[in-house]
Amino acid sequence: MSNKLQEEIKKRKTFAIISHPDAGKTTLTEKLLLFGGAIQVAGAVKSNKIKKTTVSDFMEIEKQRGISVATSVMAFEYDGLKINILDTPGHKDFAEDTYRTLTAVDSVIVVIDVAKGVEEQTEKLVSVCRMRNTPIIVFINKLDREGKDGFDLLDEIEAKLGLHVMPLSWPIGMGQTFQGVYNLFEKKLMLFKPHGKQDDEVIEFNDLSNPELEKHIGNRAAATLREESEILHEVYPDFNKQDYLDGKISPVFFGSAVNNFGVKELLDCFIQIAPNPLPRTTEERVVNPTEDKFAGFVFKIHANIDPRHRDRIAFMRICSGTFERNTNYLHVRQGKQMRFSNPTSFMAAKKEIVDEAFPGDVVGLYDSGNFKIGDSITEGESLHFKGIPAFSPEIFRFVENKEPMKYKQFQKGLEQLMDEGVAQLFLREFDGRRIIGVVGNLQFDVIKYRLEGEYGAKVEYEPANFHKACWVTCEDKNAFQEFKERRRRDLATDKDGNLVFLAESSWMLKMTQENHPKVQFHFTSEF
Ligand code: G4P
Repeated sequence: MSNKLQEEIKKRKTFAIISHPDAGKTTLTEKLLLFGGAIQVAGAVKSNKIKKTTVSDFMEIEKQRGISVATSVMAFEYDGLKINILDTPGHKDFAEDTYRTLTAVDSVIVVIDVAKGVEEQTEKLVSVCRMRNTPIIVFINKLDREGKDGFDLLDEIEAKLGLHVMPLSWPIGMGQTFQGVYNLFEKKLMLFKPHGKQDDEVIEFNDLSNPELEKHIGNRAAATLREESEILHEVYPDFNKQDYLDGKISPVFFGSAVNNFGVKELLDCFIQIAPNPLPRTTEERVVNPTEDKFAGFVFKIHANIDPRHRDRIAFMRICSGTFERNTNYLHVRQGKQMRFSNPTSFMAAKKEIVDEAFPGDVVGLYDSGNFKIGDSITEGESLHFKGIPAFSPEIFRFVENKEPMKYKQFQKGLEQLMDEGVAQLFLREFDGRRIIGVVGNLQFDVIKYRLEGEYGAKVEYEPANFHKACWVTCEDKNAFQEFKERRRRDLATDKDGNLVFLAESSWMLKMTQENHPKVQFHFTSEF
């Protein structure tokens, strides 16, 4: 491995911020970008204004709906490091997009609203991270408002998210009486100035028994802080970085993103403890970032921001080696060589062409329809990255083309949207009907809107009452044949020609499984 590659890997940290909508993910992202100088906005941010310049809102449809449909990438430099933030859509109907993005990061920050505590979407996303032992830092936001008691929140996080928490900062009051936090990690008192800019007061404070404490925060708050810090000391062991890296404990910070309070502490701790680019598993072997040969995978495909151009951007995470512009690489699934003349990196609002990129980086590849989610690109080796599954959908509709003259556009549009992972398309064998399966209802609107806007095709939906679609395989040829004959009317194929069973109810699924014990039913596409 070259020294340069090693240096570049050490500089990189790639992560995502996840939260339930409205907890403050966008605000926190903006503040982090401000620290990195990637965007420049003076003073406290009024989100509406800055939201327009935030890269995460670049699709027309999300402007309309006010939700972040697209997952975008923002990079910034801080303290000599290159930090890549992969933004994730907060809306639950786009959860699959988020799951896939989580395959491309090495750690996450979870934002929790101090008043609302752990919400539904947070639970789902954290459970996906836990499956992969992704290191997690928790940021409890909106301390300038009345919220739940700190200890209660930590208990709630442990109970609902299954995380072992480790507070590294501790709030002094909250809402009207919020005075700041004590940074247990760096032993500093940080005093909150409402509507604060970056000049909140930070005081080195090694010993909380020092009577100076009263001068800063008053008698009552000082007594409470001393008492609570003693409890913290008893309940929580000392912070161990390796436990965090192994996904065993999650450091917790308190702050207020909109007031830019506690954000710098979070960032300073993050750069010290968060992992550099980690190895990735493929079907063939483990790929280490330090390998000289380049390998990467596509985790997201985005329709072009400019609807006049049909091409798309495939987001590729670099897993090993150095990726270079204008170099021949192998598109493993298609078995063909490709070279990229305009690979793009994202520095907040700016896009620029990159000559080279390193493990942990995400580059955008202009694509005219060659890529699907999960595709691998390598220097020649046949590698298939794991952990980028499609989930079996649970909401279905039949889809019909409304304008016979536009059949081609309809077909092409559908095909491309499916490659992007917007939804899954099944073809029912016995009557040739197309069925779209999604994880959230909003996807149907997105598909309809985009087929019209980008492909000029009009579609009509009809209700399809299926409970689940699952992939089926069977080693016993005769048993499989019998199954196929008996369940002919319930079978369809997915885009890649894999056989799918469409169950009308959970009862029917259960019965079918019992009647055909040799057939295996799979609930994610990775089997
Ligand atoms: P999201 O991306 O997780 O969905 O949340 P976002 O950052 O958009 O924040 C949701 C709302 O919470 C915004 O208010 C934002 O200003 C507010 N917010 C974020 N951090 C804090 C904080 O520390 N304290 C308080 N009090 N509020 C915070 P909004 O009214 O929905 O939008 P806006 O009009 O302020 O932009």
